Amino acid sequence: MNNSDLNVENKHSRLVASKRLLLEAKNISHEFDYTLFNNITLNIHEKESIAIIGVSGTGKSTLLNILCSLLKPKSGELIYKNRSLYDLKEKELLKVRREDFGIIFQAHYLFRGFNANENLKIAELLSSNKQDDNLLKDLKIDHVMNQGVGELSGGQQQRLSIARVITKKPKIIFADEPTGNLDKETAAEVMKTMFSYIEDNDAALVLVTHEEDLAKQCDKVYKLINNELVEL
Ligand SMILES: Nc1ncnc2c1ncn2[C@@H]1O[C@H](COP(=O)(O)OP(=O)(O)O)[C@@H](O)[C@H]1O
Ligand SMILES: [Mg+2]
Repeated sequence: MNNSDLNVENKHSRLVASKRLLLEAKNISHEFDYTLFNNITLNIHEKESIAIIGVSGTGKSTLLNILCSLLKPKSGELIYKNRSLYDLKEKELLKVRREDFGIIFQAHYLFRGFNANENLKIAELLSSNKQDDNLLKDLKIDHVMNQGVGELSGGQQQRLSIARVITKKPKIIFADEPTGNLDKETAAEVMKTMFSYIEDNDAALVLVTHEEDLAKQCDKVYKLINNELVEL
């Protein structure tokens, strides 16, 4: 090995050392009535944002549900902080999901009988983290916090569900089309909020979207196509 090889290797190990591996998906395959994807392998590091794109029906939401452990694939392994999640006891898995994974669904699952502020308080209670007033300002929902969920626009509900997830300070945010109901400008603000959250908290973001412009803002972009996940 010559000196320049050594330099490359040192640089590589520094890079790996500074960005801890959080989640590894290994050889994930899944099907419903037909095969959705085969042998998907994906690594997610601290401070990293990755986007998964693909046309409707290719299995993006299904893959996200698998990556966040809500759905068990037909085959494959999911390793979080060096532990195989499928080997964990139900209680340990619930703890990882509750404390470390923040999931933003396409449907928001807000509690409709409560106002916006009460919906956020629930995240505070469950995680014993204090809500951040700047977060509400960044997401431009600070002025609607006393309104009922039903009185909020679709976009405001979407941002409230994002605030609720960020308030619990997850290690990985899994987001399924989180800006689907938003105009371009608001979508950009929301993405900025999520990117600064992962940077400031050594967290990571897995974003599912059909919008290539949004995807390109992430560190890595993958496309689900022909039953495979291809890095672009
Ligand atoms: N729980 C389920 N049972 C049966 N089929 C499903 C289920 N969830 C998704 N599918 C099917 O899998 C395919 C991929 O769905 P989905 O993951 O939602 O794709 P995307 O998010 O890329 O639009 C679709 O054909 C959908 O009907
Ligand atoms: Mg989907």
